[in-house]
Amino acid sequence: MAKPTPLSIPLLFLITITIAIPSTSAKTFRCTTAGATCQSIVDYLPPNRTTLRAIQSLFSVPHLYSILGANNLPLNTTASTPVPPQQRLRIPFPCLCSNGTGASRGRPVYTVVPDDGLWHIAAQVFSNIVTVAEIQAANGIPNPDKIEVGQNLTIPLPCSCDEVGGAAVVHYGHEVAAESSIEGIAQQYNVSQETLMQLNNLTGPQDLKAQDIIDVPLRDTPLEKTNVSEIDDHLLELFWDFGGMIETCSSMVSNNSLDYPLLVPSNAYVVTANACVKCKCDNNTANSMLQCEPAGMINASCPVIRCDASPNLFLGNTTSSGCNATTCSYAGYNTTIQTMLDSVSTCPAPPGPGSSATTLNGWRLVIFINAVMLCLLFV
Ligand SMILES: *[C@@H]1O[C@H](CO)[C@@H](O)[C@H](O)[C@H]1NC(C)=O
Ligand SMILES: *[C@@H]1O[C@H](CO)[C@@H](O)[C@H](O)[C@H]1NC(C)=O
Ligand SMILES: *[C@@H]1O[C@H](CO)[C@@H](O)[C@H](O)[C@H]1NC(C)=O
Ligand SMILES: *[C@@H]1O[C@H](CO)[C@@H](O)[C@H](O)[C@H]1NC(C)=O
Ligand SMILES: *[C@@H]1O[C@H](CO)[C@@H](O)[C@H](O)[C@H]1NC(C)=O
Ligand SMILES: *[C@@H]1O[C@H](CO)[C@@H](O)[C@H](O)[C@H]1NC(C)=O
Ligand SMILES: *[C@@H]1O[C@H](CO)[C@@H](O)[C@H](O)[C@H]1NC(C)=O
Ligand SMILES: *[C@@H]1O[C@H](CO)[C@@H](O)[C@H](O)[C@H]1NC(C)=O
Ligand SMILES: *[C@@H]1O[C@H](CO)[C@@H](O)[C@H](O)[C@H]1NC(C)=O
Ligand SMILES: *[C@@H]1O[C@H](CO)[C@@H](O)[C@H](O)[C@H]1NC(C)=O
Ligand SMILES: *[C@@H]1O[C@H](CO)[C@@H](O)[C@H](O)[C@H]1NC(C)=O
Ligand SMILES: *[C@@H]1O[C@H](CO)[C@@H](O)[C@H](O)[C@H]1NC(C)=O
Repeated sequence: MAKPTPLSIPLLFLITITIAIPSTSAKTFRCTTAGATCQSIVDYLPPNRTTLRAIQSLFSVPHLYSILGANNLPLNTTASTPVPPQQRLRIPFPCLCSNGTGASRGRPVYTVVPDDGLWHIAAQVFSNIVTVAEIQAANGIPNPDKIEVGQNLTIPLPCSCDEVGGAAVVHYGHEVAAESSIEGIAQQYNVSQETLMQLNNLTGPQDLKAQDIIDVPLRDTPLEKTNVSEIDDHLLELFWDFGGMIETCSSMVSNNSLDYPLLVPSNAYVVTANACVKCKCDNNTANSMLQCEPAGMINASCPVIRCDASPNLFLGNTTSSGCNATTCSYAGYNTTIQTMLDSVSTCPAPPGPGSSATTLNGWRLVIFINAVMLCLLFV
């Protein structure tokens, strides 16, 4: 072989560097309102067989029920439940916007163990949800080879709190599966391809790579049932109704509530109001209203929650009279849990211009009531 010419030396050097740099599949999301906070979700496909407890701990999620809710797993699922490698799990976390991008606020915190390295942590522990460079930036580490055993690293998960098309959304960090397309993902989550491409700075199919985390905004609009099948065969009976996170349910939580705006993606639930209320969003109900009920045994000191204007109705109860239905719904919490009566009529519309028998003649009568006093610890 000929001696390297002056030209081929830098070329060789360049190739070596290209090979040595690990794949950087994570991308930060645009988040323009500095200081904005919100709840966000990111996919995690564990590299090894693990348990829900280990994942909860890895991502520093305070309550297991947050993970159960984001994945629509039954509330009584135990922390020791095994999770096979590559099972897609959604991790809920708080997001903070700063300097044009969003990152998880203060967590997860990862403690460096012997023989660790940043590349191993990014790629083999957090499955490339973050890159080495992002961990370095978040923790002010100039030299990636210099981390110390016992050192705590904040892992910046990608997220955003930006509105999309003028509406509040849940930004879901979706890990791109092999063979998926922009069109397919857009269809699966009922997002326009233009929105998806613009949010993720994609110019064409060539920019979409398996294992990339892309920003999928889950909106608040009704949707026909979509066929989503991402279920790992051998976990079928556990992860039964898994997958179809399409958009968020509408809720009537008032803007002075601590959980405002309560955005719950379809096929998911949240436990809120000091673990006293469980609100679920079914995959496809006609109006995609959030359905809330007492959360049960998680917090033993929860009050009985009922609608004062209709004391026979407890939170989540519905009475119907002909085509009129009245539900005792959740309206938010701060020092008290607030409820309201939500009346929906499906009575046929009176004959008139533009009306038809199949049109949902929905009217809502909303009565806000300050319900029961909460004398609980805020956690
Ligand atoms: C969990 O709750 C479901 C109902 O939501 C019930 O059918 C099931 O038996 C419960 N499992 C355990 C282990 O308690
Ligand atoms: C914000 O981003 C700009 C450009 O990306 C960078 O130069 C600057 O150091 C960043 N500031 C902070 C506080 O991260
Ligand atoms: C998965 O297994 C690999 C190889 O044993 C190991 O390096 C890595 O730390 C493991 N990841 C997790 C999250 O346990
Ligand atoms: C790292 O975090 C752990 C758990 O929160 C804590 O016990 C430990 O003291 C922290 N270490 C450092 C160096 O801050
Ligand atoms: C978008 O992609 C182009 C080309 O890949 C790149 O030059 C540009 O910096 C990207 N912009 C953002 C905001 O990521
Ligand atoms: C999807 O979203 C649009 C709004 O962007 C909405 O009008 C439509 O009903 C949704 N559902 C389907 C199946 O497209
Ligand atoms: C859903 O997808 C599966 C696998 O792609 C397919 O076998 C099934 O027929 C689809 N169901 C509907 C209702 O489209
Ligand atoms: C939607 O919910 C129904 C009943 O709750 C269930 O049978 C169906 O499989 C769900 N569809 C999806 C896409 O999750
Ligand atoms: C909160 O809602 C009330 C009525 O729904 C509205 O008048 C008020 O402007 C809202 N406040 C904020 C900060 O959005
Ligand atoms: C709590 O909610 C009540 C009723 O909506 C409201 O009047 C009050 O201002 C709220 N308090 C705070 C601290 O937001
Ligand atoms: C009303 O709500 C209470 C408390 O959530 C529940 O135990 C009860 O079964 C409900 N009754 C009806 C008729 O739905
Ligand atoms: C339903 O509610 C509407 C409005 O309050 C009322 O006019 C109508 O008579 C009710 N219909 C039935 C069947 O109760």
